Order: sequence, then structure tokens, then C-alpha cells
Amino acid sequence: MCGIVGAVSTRNIVPLLIEGLSRLEYRGYDSAGIAILNQHIERARAVGRVSELALKAEGMHGTVGIGHTRWATHGGVTEQNAHPHVSPAQDQAQIAVVHNGIIENHDEQRDRLKALGYQFYSQTDTEVIAHLVHHYYQQSHDLLTAVKKAIAELTGAYAISVIALDQPTKMVVARLGCPLLIGLGEGENFVASDVSAVLSATRKVIYLEDGDVATLQTDSVVIIDKQDEVVSRKIHLSDVSLASLELGPYSHFMQKEIYEQPRAISDTIEALIDDGAFRSELFGQSAAAVLSKVDSVLILAAGTSYYAGLTAKYWLESIAKIPTSVEIASEYRYRESVPNPNQLIVTISQSGETLDTMEALKHAQKLGHRHSLAICNVQESAIPRASSLIFYTRAGAEIGVASTKAFTTQLIALFVLAVTLSKVRGLLTEAQEQQYLSDLRQLTGSVQIALNLEPQIREWAHRFGDKEHALFLGRGIHYPIAMEGALKLKEISYIHAEAYPAGELKHGPLALVDNNMPVVVIAPNDALLEKVKSNMQEVKARGGELFVFADADSHFKESEGVHVIRTPRHVGVLSPILHVIPVQLLAYHVALLKGTDVDKPRNLAKSVTVE
Ligand code: AGP
Repeated sequence: MCGIVGAVSTRNIVPLLIEGLSRLEYRGYDSAGIAILNQHIERARAVGRVSELALKAEGMHGTVGIGHTRWATHGGVTEQNAHPHVSPAQDQAQIAVVHNGIIENHDEQRDRLKALGYQFYSQTDTEVIAHLVHHYYQQSHDLLTAVKKAIAELTGAYAISVIALDQPTKMVVARLGCPLLIGLGEGENFVASDVSAVLSATRKVIYLEDGDVATLQTDSVVIIDKQDEVVSRKIHLSDVSLASLELGPYSHFMQKEIYEQPRAISDTIEALIDDGAFRSELFGQSAAAVLSKVDSVLILAAGTSYYAGLTAKYWLESIAKIPTSVEIASEYRYRESVPNPNQLIVTISQSGETLDTMEALKHAQKLGHRHSLAICNVQESAIPRASSLIFYTRAGAEIGVASTKAFTTQLIALFVLAVTLSKVRGLLTEAQEQQYLSDLRQLTGSVQIALNLEPQIREWAHRFGDKEHALFLGRGIHYPIAMEGALKLKEISYIHAEAYPAGELKHGPLALVDNNMPVVVIAPNDALLEKVKSNMQEVKARGGELFVFADADSHFKESEGVHVIRTPRHVGVLSPILHVIPVQLLAYHVALLKGTDVDKPRNLAKSVTVE
């Protein structure tokens, strides 16, 4: 969602701000803007893409400035609502602010500021911050003091960056509940929502903690924590590569990320298998002690990460014999549940920033849950930082809004968690351990072979292009893969798609089936294959057209209305990881035919940092 970038330098930072904003585009946004300190505060704002903002910013020049990509919450998608917001007035701006998050008490602050004589030019909650800072700045003429006083009056979540016209070498930033990092350069410093925005200038970053306020100048960064003490925070060297943020030979990031899966999977496996064995320490130093104590698992996640959790339930219960429940994070946090301090809370989040998942974790902790494991793809993001155990998947930066390689690497981590728990619980035989290791080692090659099915899948896509609805069916451990297939299709092609466990068809959804309703079936050779075959007959008898993803051993034959694509190998218990590849490719090719914005589907954001 919204993104912040800012710089305090001695060189012209306008190109850096524009580049930084374009790196943040993937987070999802609908307008963008920058403000630069000069004789006055110069602003350029645009609805639409950063490329449109770049045209408006041509000729702007300055050494201190802030930029923002906005994903509308309070107020429509208009230039007036785009950040930066200024105070006291549009043409006499003395303060400029960019903000991520939501200020919950903005209505009451707005009334108060209006009574103080401030005029509002937007419908955003952010403009309240600009005026509040200005109000206090008039009293102290100290930007840090003014920001501290302003944020003390705000309730809600924020990451902000503030500049003042008569402080031409300074920027003050603050965070509470929304990500913000400081990039340390040579004679220049930066602020950003994520490292991609400053990577072309520096790899050295400090992740601010909740309650931190920092003052940035060209040669110094001073951080004050929530106790109002000056603190020194750890400097990290980011391992995100610039290449991972570029498209290279691909047409879309989603396509690139689908094709990166063999690498992402093998890197993740390598990080999890130590010296030919499953070892609990890979989930954190205290993991051995924690995993031996827990009596059940509760997985909390959203969207695709939730489907990874649903898949993991099958592994955790069958391999580790540990009772597992999986809940949508945004539901869990608002219901009355029965806490169990001996339960392991597992959060799954590609971004590590998803507000629903973060709040669900906090809710569990408030209820007395002591053990938490985060499976996350972004180093030092909020969710792992709030968890006692962490495993970082090695997918690399995922830019496409539709999650692909993050999902398959989450599945690897969850499978290894199941086997590790089984080992800790004394259930894993040496032979089984060797078998699982060998299954994992062969998986990368099988995924590579599955990618070779693309030409056949592209052919199938033509049969979906003119459809309005699609059904996805699976059974057992492949039901979550059917759900993920339906989510991918609706997310990027805007075709309505629903997933059902195939046995449920006759309890209702069969009524939908006719020759306009393509039915995708995930049907590898597993214990439920014969059941799936009967469910398929029910569809066929009603004139439905079936598109079956089978594997080497499923023994399906093509016939009238039954199309079959076979993944060439059978990978046993890891089969969900293999079978998600073709459904990702199907969604991608249908979206291409429909001409949608594959990487930035309408109305969606990559990191969902609001409720
Ligand atoms: C996946 O294609 C979606 N864009 C979405 O469902 C996503 O998985 C969800 O928002 C959770 O995100 P997270 O993994 O970053 O927490």
C-alpha cells in the first residue's frame, strides 16, 4: 500500500525520489507526489502512475525532499488528496508531510484545527498531521519538538516524514505500526517504506521501531525512542539485489516470479536442511525447546498465505500428528477464542507487514499465547520482529501483486516444520527422514519440468478468455491448491472463480455447471483420486467442460469435454507444491489474453497495511 521515500543530500534528489517511488509502485497505489525544499516548498502530484508524476516533476531541483505513493483510504483518488500535504496553506506552505497508515482521531483533530483557523484542502486524515505539526512548529520553531507534540495527539498507525521550509537541511521521521527505515548514505541519508526505494543509493539500513522519531541531516541520523531516549539501532546490510527488482527478459514480474520458483525453492530448501538432516534450530535458537513443548498449532494468515496454512494443516496432522487449526487473521482477531499457552502460533506472511496478520498475532499474544513462529519473506519486517521464532523464506523480492514464488517457498518451510516437529516429537524414523530429504531434493527438478507445460496451458487459456465464471475442484491436500488457483484467476483476470472440495459439488455448486462454466480439477494420483474421478463424472453428465491437472500416475484419458495436462512426475507428499505451478500459469495466460494489468491488478495492493 502507500509508500514513502525521502532524502537529505547535497545533490539533486528529484531523480532519486522518482526512481524510489517507481520501486514502491508494486505495493499498490493510485496517485503519487513529491515535495522539495527550495525558496518555497515545491510540489508535484499526479493521479495515476509515477511516470505521470515524473512528467510533472520535470525541471524540479532540490537537495531535500519527500515522496509518496498513495492508496486511497480517506478521500477519493484525486490530486488534492495525493500526498505530500502542506500547511498552513497550499501557496504558503511551511510544512510538508507524507504519511502511511490511518489516523483514527482525524475528525476530532480536524474540528479542533479548523477552530484554530486552519483551512483544509483535502479529505485525507494526513492533512491533519501537516496542520498539527505546523501549529506546534509556530510555537517552538523546532521541527523535532513539533513532530513529537503532534504525534502525541494522534491515535492510529503511521509512518511519516516531515520537512519544514526554514529547516533546509533537515527531515524528521516517525513510525508507529507502519514500516519505515532509514538508509545511510555517504554524506546523505534517506527514509523509505521499504529498502527497494533506496537500494540504488545504499544497502545500509536501520529499521525504525514503533515509537521511534528520528532527525535526518546529510551527516547525521539521531533516533529517539518512545521513552524519549537517544538510541542507537542496529545497521543492516540489505541482501535485496537490484536485479531482483528489474524485469530482465520477462514481460511481467508475475511471469518472472513464476519462472524463478525452481531457484527460490532450492534456496529455501538449502536454508532449511542442515548437513543432511532436519534441525529445529533453523527456526530460531529457542526452537528446539519450544517445539518440544507445544501441543497444537494455530496458523494465522491472509489470502495466499492462508492457503499455504491450509495446505500445511494436512502435513502437520499427518506427519507430526499435532492438532492444527488455520484461521483467517482478520476473523481470528475479532472473535472470542479459547487461548492455549501451549499452542504454537504460526503466522505466514510474504510481506511481513499485513496488518490483519500482525494484529492477529498481537491479539494471540494478549490472550496469553507465548510461542510464535513467523514464516516470512521480508527480512526485519514487522511480523517476524514481533515473533519469538522466525524462518525467512528465500523467494527473493516478490513484486507482482499475485503471490507465486512466495507461496511455494512458504509451503517448503511449512513442510519442513511438519517434519521437524515430527522429529522433535520422536515420531520420525531415520528411513522417513531420508525419504523426505530425497523428496525435497527432487522437487526442484520436477517444478522445472512443470514449467515446461506452459505451451499447453497457454492453449487452454483461450477457452477461459470469454468466460465469466470458473470452478476449481480439489480434494484433501489439493483442495487449498484449488482455492489458490481460483484466487489467482480472479485476482489478475477478473473472472469470478470459486473453489470447492470436489465432494461438495452435489451439495449445491453442481447447479451452476453448464457449458459456460469451465471446471478446473487438481487431480494427482493420491488416495482420493478415484473419488475425484466420480465427482468429475457428475460434472461431465451436466455438460460441464473439465480441465484436469493430473500427474504421471493418474491415468486420465482425454475425451469429449475432458482436457488433461499431466505434470510429468509424481512427487508424493509434496504434490501441492508441484500442482500450484500450472494454475499460476493458467491465471497468468488468461490475464494476458484479457489484457489486464497483470502485476498491478485493479483495486489491490501488494502489502495490505490497513484493515
Ligand atoms: C495473493 O496473490 C494476494 N495478493 C494476497 O492474497 C496476499 O497473499 C495476502 O494479502 C497476504 O499477504 P502477505 O502474505 O504479505 O501477508
